[in-house]
Amino acid sequence: MCGIVGYVGEREAVPVLIKGLEHLEYRGYDSAGIACLSHDRSKFFMIKEKGKLAELKAQLNGVPPQMRLGIGHTRWATHGEPSKINAHPHLGRDSRIALVHNGIVENYAELKSELERKGHRFKSKTDTEVAAHLIEYYYRGDLCEALRKAVRRMKGFFAFVAISHDEPNRLFACKRSNPLVIGVGHNEHFVASDVSALLPYTKRVIYLDDDELVELTPDSVRVTQLQKGTKIQKKVSEINWNVEQAQKGGFPHFMLKEIYEQPRVLSETILERIDDKGNIHFELLPKSTVKKLQKIKKIHIVSCGTAYHAGLVANYMMGKYVRLPIEATVSSEFRYEDPIVGPGDLVVLITQSGETADTLAALRLAKEKKALTLAIVNVVGSTIAREADLVIYTQAGPEIGVASTKAYIAQLGTLALFTFYLARLRKTIASQEYRELIGEFRKLPKSAEQVLKQVDDIDRCARKHFHRKNFLYLGRGYNYPTALEGALKLKEISYAHAHGYAAGEMKHGPIALIDEEQLVICIAPQSKTYDKMISNIEEIKARNGLVMAIGTYGSKALSKLADYLFLIPNTPEIFSPILSVITLQVFAYKIAVLNHRDVDQPRNLAKSVTVE
Ligand code: F6R
Repeated sequence: MCGIVGYVGEREAVPVLIKGLEHLEYRGYDSAGIACLSHDRSKFFMIKEKGKLAELKAQLNGVPPQMRLGIGHTRWATHGEPSKINAHPHLGRDSRIALVHNGIVENYAELKSELERKGHRFKSKTDTEVAAHLIEYYYRGDLCEALRKAVRRMKGFFAFVAISHDEPNRLFACKRSNPLVIGVGHNEHFVASDVSALLPYTKRVIYLDDDELVELTPDSVRVTQLQKGTKIQKKVSEINWNVEQAQKGGFPHFMLKEIYEQPRVLSETILERIDDKGNIHFELLPKSTVKKLQKIKKIHIVSCGTAYHAGLVANYMMGKYVRLPIEATVSSEFRYEDPIVGPGDLVVLITQSGETADTLAALRLAKEKKALTLAIVNVVGSTIAREADLVIYTQAGPEIGVASTKAYIAQLGTLALFTFYLARLRKTIASQEYRELIGEFRKLPKSAEQVLKQVDDIDRCARKHFHRKNFLYLGRGYNYPTALEGALKLKEISYAHAHGYAAGEMKHGPIALIDEEQLVICIAPQSKTYDKMISNIEEIKARNGLVMAIGTYGSKALSKLADYLFLIPNTPEIFSPILSVITLQVFAYKIAVLNHRDVDQPRNLAKSVTVE
């Protein structure tokens, strides 16, 4: 949460910072601001605005030229309401340093009182302003030293980027828990919360680890240990994402673009990892792990939000094909409930951003308890990807829309692939069945294209129902999580209430909602519980409820009962969540657009939840 960016080099800093913030805005959009060192070094040039980056951009007329050092911030408010005063950057008492921050200084109230006793006065309600004052309090002409001293006094977690008046060619940054990546250029360096802000300028990056501090000049990068000051050698990595992937490419919203990218994402996630003989290869799983994976006794799947729904689907996948005890848990529960995890267990962390605070804490806990950890991650080089014992990248490319779509599909595809890989390793799947499933798996990208051909029909249905305030989603088995995901997609971008339920639970409560005003979205592809879904739909129709159904081509009973029917190509049950969720993503998108919602940046949300 919150996007931060910094620049030092030969270019004008302001456009670089603004472009960087454009790419980071999905991390928070309560306010935005920049601070640059003026040409004559006499003062900071600073502008901040409440609201989205567009508000800040509107204030950019007359920016003085030749500012080559600066920092920027786009905020998701934690301490203090969204306002201009609370917007970052924040200055120290004598305005000698400027600071942007992602994270929470947990003991800020204590530090604030201490500084107030020393005569400091604060303009904002933020923990960051306290941090800025504290850093400046320790500042004696060396910002590295001041950061070290100040951070020693702070509890919590942070990524800080700071500049000072007295060090005109230097950019300083340090981190604990929250991400920071350095962009390496020619006579210029960048720092940002994630690589998307760097892509327009460089693909050469250095990931900063926890408790590291970096001092950047146009032609040098110096990384040291935050507390001790010892020098650290860092590796430069190449990013294979490109800047076009992080642009809308003619679509009105990133979310729609990302929905349409899903057939390609499926190809890249799945097809490229299955060889001609049907063997599965994960490029980053070392051979030495095979024995460990053969011996695991239990699998825990830990994740949040949409990624948790992917975990629930994996529960069904692995339960059926790997035949081991499996438990899918949301990260925030896992980390605090003293889970029974230990050596011999595999803990799978699923995350798009690779930075989610609760999932990261769950990973660290699992490692402490000596479990084998596997991260299924989208963002290359993210903290969770780097800290887990094993990593499989989902290869969805940058996902910018706050509501996750293509990353979810990529998670499901990767989890199915990993399920088959494990099942084969552990000999819990017959060769014939494996071959058949791999054959069906290969068809998914084409099938996803088929599903997307129904967009206009989904639009017509959405036009009839966009005014509704309550939606009920029902599914069974593999598609119970699809019901949860469909409801989550709708509520997060349209702000209507939507509830996902296991259809078998309908008679235990939700049936009371059914009348002629209730639209029920029933996910009922061919499966072992198809007939049970049909009975549920009969019960809804008997009470005059409206049914929008998702079924498989040729489902006669469904076509007779449903008021609206959307179809997916025939596929084994294990793959049906991958296809059926696409219709629900499009439906949520259309409802949100018809309600004039901010689809890519829904209120109160941020793409990367780096605070718990
Ligand atoms: C919903 C959504 C969130 C994320 C959740 C986990 O559309 O995007 O629910 O799935 O915040 O984020 P990651 O996957 O980055 O750990």
